[in-house]
Amino acid sequence: MTTVKIKRLGHLGDGIADGPIYVPAALPGEVVTGTLDGEHLRDPKIDTPSENRVKPPCSHAKSCGGCQLQHASDVFVSDWKRDVVRQALAAHGIAVDLEPPITSPAKSRRRATFSVKRTKKGALAGFHMKASDTIISVPNCQLLHPELTAALPMVEALGVLGASRKGELSALVTRTDTGLDVTVTGGKEMDVALHQALSDLARDYDLARIAWDDDIALQRRAPVLRLGPADLTPPPGAFLQATREGEAALIDAVKQALTGVKRVADLFAGCGTFALPLAQDAMVHAVEGDRDMTNALDHAWRNAEGLKRITHEVRDLFRNPLQPEELAKCDGVVIDPPRAGAAAQVAELARSSVPRIAHVSCNPATFARDTATLIRAGYDVEWIRVVDQFRWSTHVELVALLRRNN
Ligand SMILES: C[S@@+](CC[C@H](N)C(=O)[O-])C[C@H]1O[C@@H](n2cnc3c(N)ncnc32)[C@H](O)[C@@H]1O
Repeated sequence: MTTVKIKRLGHLGDGIADGPIYVPAALPGEVVTGTLDGEHLRDPKIDTPSENRVKPPCSHAKSCGGCQLQHASDVFVSDWKRDVVRQALAAHGIAVDLEPPITSPAKSRRRATFSVKRTKKGALAGFHMKASDTIISVPNCQLLHPELTAALPMVEALGVLGASRKGELSALVTRTDTGLDVTVTGGKEMDVALHQALSDLARDYDLARIAWDDDIALQRRAPVLRLGPADLTPPPGAFLQATREGEAALIDAVKQALTGVKRVADLFAGCGTFALPLAQDAMVHAVEGDRDMTNALDHAWRNAEGLKRITHEVRDLFRNPLQPEELAKCDGVVIDPPRAGAAAQVAELARSSVPRIAHVSCNPATFARDTATLIRAGYDVEWIRVVDQFRWSTHVELVALLRRNN
């Protein structure tokens, strides 16, 4: 047996001791004994628990792969996430004061991807266990909005109808203002009998829409999400912020960063999470790589009242970023790239004269890299707001205001 003292928490939520030795579900300061297997301590027993250790609120926390940090106190997780951002910035020589994250409450996730497998008795829906193919049911999940946990029997019924005998299907379930929107992938091929059975299921569970792979199989009502003064019907499977509270915090920060601007470019715009609320006060040019999403945004804008003009463009911003000449008319930019960041677009922003940039990021490492480029080009980081809509996970998001100083 080997005994180690945990020095820090890794980016996947493991405790890390000197070596490095990785210890699952251990916290800094804890003394832990287990069996050393390469760089990993297996079957760890906590000899000295941290004062930050708490009883996980979910009885499945140890086995379910959905959460990584339920064994740590809220204050510890909040401080740790703020530190993740601070350290990513420090690696590029950037120092900014950070307030504690704005954390979404428990049971507020509005969408989840459930895995479903056929069983002898019917089907089992839930999440994968940690590092495993086995599915665990989570009827008491502390993350999901109660309407999503209540949807588990519906998802199991979907599995009975649509999963192949040995395969596993995925059901992305989104809670919208007009009912549940379900996108199924990995199921059987659609045929008339399956379509009829899905219609019955949608009626029985009062679903708004079911999409099967890339096609909308049936729509009883448009699934609608209110965004500012607009009603958005997102395409099946489209990117959406994970919680209403997180989305509100991000929109609030972006609007604050761009107060008073008249012309905004919204880069990596998705379905218009920022474009639609910003259009209450400014003209917006929304650029996004996915045509279905820009179409949804355009439809929402056309049917809303009181918004300024939103133009849109389908464009690959990695290969074909907006050039400084195209940005010249804008007095503000919001940029919200995927985890890889936006190195190519940021290089062009660095050559531009855009006075203010609201940078939204779900990856502090690529955010810090891209921010260092902008700082070298004459931007100052005025403030950063840390947002945590992935409670008990190791994810963290942020919004920053960068202002040109020359
Ligand atoms: C983090 S999401 C943000 C979406 C939107 N701002 C929101 O908050 O809902 C990133 C968006 O970038 C889009 N995207 C990914 N790669 C892209 C690329 N190379 N060019 C343009 N858009 C891209 C994705 O489709 C996705 O909508």
